[in-house]
Amino acid sequence: MDYDDEPVETVEVTFVTNGGKTAQIPVGSILLRGSMRADGGIPFRCCGGICGTCRCFIEEGLENTKPPTKKEGKHISAEEAAEGHRLACQTTITGPVKVSWVPLKDRKK
Ligand code: FES
Repeated sequence: MDYDDEPVETVEVTFVTNGGKTAQIPVGSILLRGSMRADGGIPFRCCGGICGTCRCFIEEGLENTKPPTKKEGKHISAEEAAEGHRLACQTTITGPVKVSWVPLKDRKK
């Protein structure tokens, strides 16, 4: 059986900081993985919840993400998470989201 022929349910992700670029990402994907595949532009380094480089803000669709992981808790407070701050490499998406981030060049060293 060839699973490649099976339809994959996708959702639209809008990369606000990348000029509002949109991409269709499979439901259940990690946001950073979807960004990498679609050239979405979310910055990253470790891809493992350690460095914090992929910190982003879910402008719309926070309800379409799974709850923050323990690793996110080391970088983002519960209050910030409730506002929409997340680590893209730890965020599973279940529906459409709009995501923005502070470009690396604009971050404090
Ligand atoms: S890329 Fe390092 S925490 Fe996400």
